[in-house]
Parts: sequence; structure tokens; C-alpha cells
Amino acid sequence: MKNIDITSHVRGESVYVDDIPVRTGTLYGAVFDSPMPHGVLRDPDVSDAGQMAGVIRVVTAKDIPGENQIGIVVDDEPLFAEKVVHYVGQPIALVLAESESRAMAAARKIRVDIDPLPVIIDPREASKKGALIGKPRTFSLGNIDQAWETCDHVFEGVAESGGQEHLYIETQGSYAYRTENGGIRIFSSNQSPTVVQKTVARVLDVPMHKVEVDVRRLGGGFGGKESQGTVWAVMAALGAYITKRAVKLVLHRLDDLRMTGKRHPYSSDFKIGLTEDLEIVAYEVSFYQNAGAFTDLSPAVLERTLFHATGSYFVPNVRATAAGCRTNLPPNTAMRGFGGPQGMFVMEAAIAKAAEALGVDASTIQKKNLLREGDAFPYGQKTERCQAVNCWTEVEERCDIDALREEVATFNADNRLFKKGIAFMPVCFGISFTKIHMNQAGALVHIYQDGSVGVSTGATEMGQGVNTKMAQVAAQVLSVSPDRIKIETTNTTRVANTSPTAASASADMNGKAVEKAGLALSGRLKRFAAKELGHPESGASAWIEIRNEQVYDRGVKTDLAWNDLVMGAYLARVDLTEHAYYATPGIHFDTDTEKGCPFAYHVYGTAVTVATVDCLRGTYEIDAVHVVHDFGKSMNPLIDRGQAEGGILQGIGWMTMEELRYSEEGRLLSNTLSTYKIPDISSTPREMNIHFLETAGSPLAILKSKAIGEPPLMYGIGAYFAIRNAIRAARQDKALPLSAPITPERVLLSLYDTPQRATGSE
Ligand code: MTE
Ligand code: MOS
Repeated sequence: MKNIDITSHVRGESVYVDDIPVRTGTLYGAVFDSPMPHGVLRDPDVSDAGQMAGVIRVVTAKDIPGENQIGIVVDDEPLFAEKVVHYVGQPIALVLAESESRAMAAARKIRVDIDPLPVIIDPREASKKGALIGKPRTFSLGNIDQAWETCDHVFEGVAESGGQEHLYIETQGSYAYRTENGGIRIFSSNQSPTVVQKTVARVLDVPMHKVEVDVRRLGGGFGGKESQGTVWAVMAALGAYITKRAVKLVLHRLDDLRMTGKRHPYSSDFKIGLTEDLEIVAYEVSFYQNAGAFTDLSPAVLERTLFHATGSYFVPNVRATAAGCRTNLPPNTAMRGFGGPQGMFVMEAAIAKAAEALGVDASTIQKKNLLREGDAFPYGQKTERCQAVNCWTEVEERCDIDALREEVATFNADNRLFKKGIAFMPVCFGISFTKIHMNQAGALVHIYQDGSVGVSTGATEMGQGVNTKMAQVAAQVLSVSPDRIKIETTNTTRVANTSPTAASASADMNGKAVEKAGLALSGRLKRFAAKELGHPESGASAWIEIRNEQVYDRGVKTDLAWNDLVMGAYLARVDLTEHAYYATPGIHFDTDTEKGCPFAYHVYGTAVTVATVDCLRGTYEIDAVHVVHDFGKSMNPLIDRGQAEGGILQGIGWMTMEELRYSEEGRLLSNTLSTYKIPDISSTPREMNIHFLETAGSPLAILKSKAIGEPPLMYGIGAYFAIRNAIRAARQDKALPLSAPITPERVLLSLYDTPQRATGSE
């Protein structure tokens, strides 16, 4: 089935926040943010700005009726800075004016006095100074201290991975207005409607029932609107509350780039121990997470780094420690993979380091140590229906690895200025929110009198196709045509207390709720049909089936069609609405022992990446990415393939060309789309072969179709090592840092001992 939004997207008719027709008297917001990374803030002087033509109000912390607090995990983040600023880009005031240009012009007139305080942007420095967010955590397995003695080889090193801008196409934005009796309605580009509802209630000091949050769709979120979409929604709501006028706040791209947090950069130390025959016996790792100025979601991201510290491998002795480090950068946040990619990168770096030192191909070590059925992760859970080896051997076969290796070796022998490299990247990703209580979802399904169906869930559509999947589930359980199904907006008054659309788990959890609601409704309809067909006895509904909009009685097609069935049921006063609730069963985790069974299941796969490096220019191309991925029983191969391809490309971008640079004062230097480059069509792999490994799936996956949103991103790590291997084909003798992204500049610097010509710049 095609994505249900496809036609309106192509026609440009899909509605995003900026497309919502504004009400008469709407005000436009512009945010004034801190020009300094750290310092004591004197009372901002907003008088000039407030007197400008068209300006209605300048809102600061003093105007907040409730709490000046928007922290999602820990209460450490004000909506507007009050006494101290902690990063360049931290909001200080909101100007509300009759046009956007007037609001922006006025914001430029605001003056602030800030007495500078020391600035930290490096996580290791923060850690040394004790600037930590929460306590460091350690996951362990076996006995690491004894294990080193049994190792024949031990290698140590440092690995660095950079941040990543989400670059959703729709920037952050919300539109809010007051409703009667002090209520407020907010339209937001947001993954977390309930978080917005709760935070607005807190900031305005009103009960949650006064606040309605509605999300039609997002023009991309990628984690960047899980916690950080809230800020702008709360500001719009606050502005509307104070002025009693509608307020629209949509960030311009450059403001969005400067003010919002990104994927966490990590700096890590690793130590890996192997036996003579390349079994990994011991692995120790310390992660320094650059969390930025406020807690945001950093502890949860950090936790997932620990969950995925050993990647797709079984290691019997592990000690993984992680610390969230507070720095003067915008609070870093959720981004596709949620700390998992950062953890896996270090494991792969350690294997690469060992392989290079031992003179073997990294894939030999990787393959040897893949997870097998029943292996334990450091967090206690054991693999079930493990597909790590299957995916690996299947992709070897599909890409004809021996021939490919041969081809690359010949190419490298024949070419001096171009070199090719190959890398394997196995992925094992756990599905569920690691905060157990978040694994719940709800759905509200109405069957209308004409047989059409309206479905509301807690999931938000951000391009990942969750609404299409919800329509499929409803159509399948009710056995009606998908044309009958409408997916409503995600609205806090229809489905309450929702978890963010995140952790790749939305289709599973909300889909299970839709399934339950659909089953309840069809059960009711079958009981009614049984009576209609002359079977009043209880239990007779078991004889009834609804198949393709037609009622069957003991396997025989009857004259009763869906429309008449529904209308008849309505007239007989059968309730045609159902709310259903789903909570993922069987998962638990104890943070005292750091053991449990936190994931409903794992998703597996392996990618083989081939890259060509131009050794004269330092540029590179990704020739091919061959993937065998465990989709379970994909309920929508078109959408799932799109998720896989998009994820891979985003992962390649993170590892190769996307480089976030900050000045020493924490000012974002890569602050435009000309200095921050994401993959475009010409940097897309020439070939992307994604093979669907059809497996039994998992009973906890919706219709056995496994979660797909995040796991493929981590195949992108293969691009880093393929490029590295190509560089090594040119310069075997040179020690290379394990530092991502591997930009063309870095490639060039790693190929030559001194820059070819001193240009004055780096
Ligand atoms: N795909 C598109 N097109 N746009 C997005 O913003 N977000 C990703 C992924 N795929 C995203 C996307 C992230 S970070 C997550 S967690 C999942 O989608 C969330 O949706 P799901 O739970 O329905 O997979
Ligand atoms: Mo995705 S990073 O869990 O929103």
C-alpha cells in the first residue's frame, strides 16, 4: 500500500504548521537569544523593542504565570534565561508583533548585559571539573579485571564521533490561540503532544485539561522534536495566553540551527582484548557524552549508548561506563538511534584498531564474534530469534563477497590515485523505550454510520509512514478497504497521556492499540450479525466472519455487507466506538543492578559498504551499500525500504560529511547550509541493495512487521570504515585517528604527512 499522504504531498496540499490559515489578529513571534555562551544576565532592556511600531508585547521570564521550567527529565531548563545564560542561542525573550518582520526587527533592538563566566565545550574537560549530568553509569558482564589475563592481544585507543543536525525540512514551529474559559489550543510540529500539553500547563499554571495539542504531521523530526519542539509550542501558548491573540512562532532555518540541540558528540576510551584465534574476550569502554547545557533527554540517550556498547557482538567480559557531561552548548538531544550509533561506533573502532594491528581484515573479527541464539547482553537480556549470523552470511552471498574483494584488490593494484575499501557493519538494535513506563499507547476508533472509519492514535506522522501503517492495521482487523479509513490528527483530547513518537516503537505500540480496538469492534459487529442471521444463542458469533466487507456464516458468504452491517448495528444501538490501550508486556529493567529485559525484541541486519577515495583530492564516493535486514514480515515493503534507504543515507552523512563546528566560545560555526553539508543526490551511494530477510518477526511487532525507523541509520557507520580501509590501501604505514566524521579534509590530511601547500587555513 502506498503512503496515504502521497497525493497531497506531491500536490503540495499537505498541511504543516506554516500552512494553517491564521486567524484575524494573529501575532508573530521572534525569539531573542543569548549572544554569549555563559554569564550572569542583567535585566534585559526590552524598552526599545517594545516601543517599535507593530510590537504588541515583549515576553520575558517575568511574565510567566506558572513555572519558568521546561525540563523533560530533570527540572534544570528554564523557558527563558533569568539570571544566567548557559549557551549561545539560549532564549531570553519573545517579541510579539503584528508581522514577522516587525517582530524580528524588534528582537534585534534588545540589549543585554552579560558578565562572562568560564566556558566549557569539551566533555572531557567538563568531566574533569565535575560538571556532570546525573551519575555516571556502568553496565558490566563477567569479570573484566581477570579477563585481561586470558587475552593474547590487548589494544587501547580513543574514538570520537561528532554531533549531527537533524535538518528536518520543516523547521520548529507552533501556532496557538485561546479558546473559551481560559483554554488554549496549540498546533505544533511535534513528536510529543503530551509533553507539550504538560509543559504548557506547568508554565501557564493551568490544569492539563485546559490545554489541547494537535499534530497533523511533521515535516521531519528525527528526534529533534521529541523534547525540543516543546520550547516553541510553550512560547506560542504563553504569548497567546498573555495577549489573548493567536500567536504563530515558526523558526527561520538559521535560528533553528543556532538555537536547537543536536545528536550528542561523544569522546570515548576503549580497551579490547582478544584470544589468539580472534575471539573478543574483554571490552572496556568509557563514554564522555557532550550533553550541552541542560539535561534534556541526555540520560536516556546515554543509557541507550550503554545498551548498545557491544554492538552486534557477544563479549563475555564487559565494563561500559558512561558520563553525561555538561557543556556550554545548546542541550543535545534525541536523534535517530538515540545514543545507540555512538556506542556502536566505538565498538567498531576498537575492532578496526585490533584488526589493523594484527594485520587481519576487521570482518574476520566481526564475523567470529557475532551474537548467537541465547547470548547474553551486558544488561542481562538474552538474544531470541537472533538473526545476526543469518544476515551476515546472506549479505556475503548476495554481494558475492569473494568476487567483490578480488575486484577491489585488483582496482587498488591498478590505481595509484584512487583506492577502494570495503567494510561490514552488523547492527543489532533493541526495540522499546528504555524507560519502561513509556511503553504504552492508545487508540480511539469510530465506525461511522456509513461504514467509514476514523482512527486516532498517540503516534505522530513525521514522514516515517506510521499513519499509513495504522490505516493498514485498521483495514486488516476490520477487513475493510483501506479507503474506508481516515487517520485523524494526533490530539491530546482524543488520545491522552501519549508517549513521544520515538524509539522506533510507535507503529508497534499504537498499532497494537488500533488492533485491539478493531478486534473489540468487530467482535461486537459479529455478535450483532449472528443475531441478524438467526443465531441468538451465545457463542454463535464464533461462526461469523467479516471478510472483505462481507459477512460469512460458518464459512458461507451471506448477503450482509459491511454498510448494512454497520447501519443495522447502529439502529440496534450497538456502540460503534472503541478506545483501546496497549502496554508492551514482559519488559523490565532494574537500574540498581543495571540488569533486566528492557527490549520487546531486537532488529538485526548487516551492511557491506564499498567506497572509492580520490587520493589526490581527498574526496570519496560510496559505490554501494548491500544490506540484508531482518524486517520480520514487513507490512509495508515500500515504506520500510524508504525508511532503510533514508536511515542509511542519514547515517552516512553523520559519519562522513556532516561536521558541526563550534568556536572555542561555543558559537556554532557551521551555522548555514553552505557550511553544514548533508548528503544530497550526488553523494548518495551509486547502488543500494536492500534485501528483506523475511523472518518470523516477533509477536510484539505489529503484524510481525519489525520496527524500522532507526536501526538502518547505523549501517552508515560502514561508510566510515570503508573509506578508512581505502585510505589504508594508499597509506598502510600511517596511523589514522578513529575520529568521525571523516570529511574530505580529514581524508586528505590522513593521506599526506604535511599539507601539500600551506594556505594559512587548517
Ligand atoms: N523518517 C522520516 N521520514 N522522518 C523522520 O523524522 N524519524 C526517525 C524514524 N524515521 C523520522 C523517520 C526516528 S528518530 C524515529 S524514532 C522513528 O522514525 C519514529 O517513528 P516510528 O516509531 O513510527 O518508527
Ligand atoms: Mo527517534 S531519536 O527515537 O525520535
